[in-house]
Amino acid sequence: MSQSTGTRPLAIVTGASTGIGRELATCCVDGGFDLIVVADEPEIHVAASELGAHDVHVEAVQADLATLEGVDKVVAAANGRPVSALLANAGRALGHAFLDQDFAAARKVLDTNVTGTIYLIYQVGRQMRARGEGRILITGSIAGFMPGSFQAVYNGTKAFLDSFSYALRNELKETNVSVTCLMPGATETDIFERADMLDTKIGSQKKDDPADVARQGYEAMMRGDGQIVTGLKSKFQAAMAHVIPADMLAEMHRGMAAPGTAPSAEQSRK
Ligand SMILES: NC(=O)c1ccc[n+]([C@@H]2O[C@H](COP(=O)([O-])OP(=O)(O)OC[C@H]3O[C@@H](n4cnc5c(N)ncnc54)[C@H](OP(=O)(O)O)[C@@H]3O)[C@@H](O)[C@H]2O)c1
Repeated sequence: MSQSTGTRPLAIVTGASTGIGRELATCCVDGGFDLIVVADEPEIHVAASELGAHDVHVEAVQADLATLEGVDKVVAAANGRPVSALLANAGRALGHAFLDQDFAAARKVLDTNVTGTIYLIYQVGRQMRARGEGRILITGSIAGFMPGSFQAVYNGTKAFLDSFSYALRNELKETNVSVTCLMPGATETDIFERADMLDTKIGSQKKDDPADVARQGYEAMMRGDGQIVTGLKSKFQAAMAHVIPADMLAEMHRGMAAPGTAPSAEQSRK
């Protein structure tokens, strides 16, 4: 980890140990930000030392963002230094039918994706509004446009974030604080394995590259755009979701996310 010069702007990236968040953190390093990177597991320290090899100051915070105390720890780590960019990306998914899920695990999805995310945005966003500048990137999802059969809680949290992002952006339109919603489609990360969805069609199919997704999200945030749906297939799915009836979308989601929908090796070869 190199020393901070104090002259670079500061970005906070949550969920920066793996996947899209790790790539968002790389984009921030390339863009000349000092960083606070956050995740729940000790791997965040490894990510921080790799990112800090690029002559920016990177601080790792290991905190459970499903708790208010975890979020407070992140805010405290900034130590009063102005946050120029908040990339609120940490999130988790959970497969299987809702009534078959462990309720504590379902609640953790809600607490991480919704409560922890908006509490962090609340705290950092108020500081940005008081200073009159800042950038907020929220990782929502095109999943927020579809009732997520066999991933019902997750899709609900993403519908919340997609909607919240537009609303907050509107509330801040007379300030120089921008709010951007990054809405990826299926992206090649650990999230499906963690959600126990490797035996599903969506979990096993070819997916978008997290580096491409993150770069598009980062660039949209730097432009101050309201939203970015990444990938051609995702753009098509998002457009279709606006015209297809909800019960049909739920049935289509079943085909992607129900356990046992992964194609067999023979089907995949065809
Ligand atoms: N992959 C996709 O297809 C896809 C599509 C649309 C949107 N997204 C969204 O993209 C974001 C990143 O997911 P990903 O696909 O990159 O998955 P990932 O590789 O599993 O990364 C998730 C990150 O969030 C962190 N995290 C999860 N729960 C946390 C908690 N309670 N406290 C602190 N950190 C926590 C993880 O850290 P730990 O390992 O330390 O818990 C990890 O760094 C999520 O918001 C997800 O919903 C993903």
